[in-house]
Amino acid sequence: MRVTIRDLRLMKRRGERIPMLTAYDYTSARLVEAAGIPVILVGDSVGQWLLGYETTLPVTMDEMLHHVKAVVRGTEKAHVVADMPFMSYQADVADAVRNAGRMLQEGGAQSVKLEGGASVVPIVRRLVEAGIPVMGHIGFTPQSFNQLGGFVVQGKLPRKAAALIDDAVALEDAGCHSMVVEMVPAELAALMTERLSVPTIGIGSGVHCDGQVQVFHDIFGLTEDFVPRHARMYTDLGATIRDAVSAYAGDVRAASFPSDEESHQMKPEALEKLGAVLAETASAG
Ligand code: KIV
Repeated sequence: MRVTIRDLRLMKRRGERIPMLTAYDYTSARLVEAAGIPVILVGDSVGQWLLGYETTLPVTMDEMLHHVKAVVRGTEKAHVVADMPFMSYQADVADAVRNAGRMLQEGGAQSVKLEGGASVVPIVRRLVEAGIPVMGHIGFTPQSFNQLGGFVVQGKLPRKAAALIDDAVALEDAGCHSMVVEMVPAELAALMTERLSVPTIGIGSGVHCDGQVQVFHDIFGLTEDFVPRHARMYTDLGATIRDAVSAYAGDVRAASFPSDEESHQMKPEALEKLGAVLAETASAG
């Protein structure tokens, strides 16, 4: 049985912090689940870290579904949240229901996540009515990168902070079961966390959220071009991979890979027979 939205709410009530991590493929999802992560986000950050786009904006529904399916296949217990890509929900509520439905029906996810405050409340309400669990995402919302003018902390000014609290409450009222709170001051995230009965999952928003989410490639040192201030690198897999690859290439160049143990061998009788067959073929020709 997978972790449910009820479990997440209970975790908040019990004061149990919720660790969430992104994953985009079968192998990493298996590892992440085996390490005890209860909620896996198939983020549209797949665009940057797996597909090589500059932002999340080019990611399509089909690309997301491809990765959601792989993560679902790699997990048994984790609650898998599928990110709704840019323009899969903003233009039309009916579109949003169809696309979110695909994430559950075809992708096998347990929830969807979408970005925005008051403006997405009618969409959230409709999805929840259709039986689709929704995780909100407020504060810095990467799909509005152009509108926000870059990677900018949100809610630093009192009026903007108050508006974000109103957004959070409106999303909870509309039925969001939890909410990513990205890049807002820690004090504001603490106020939201206190105000909401659903869990807040912070990223770059201080320690007072009910949970934290990090991007897989950030915590493993795999993002060389851009490491946000709020990311903590737990291991430098980038360096480990580079070292391993250059050792492999060196072994190939030195003809020390593969060894006899790493090769498949013929039985001596078979080799002897092969010699006879080749000799026969050569004399016949
Ligand atoms: O796509 C993603 O990885 C996200 C996280 C930053 C929360 O939305």
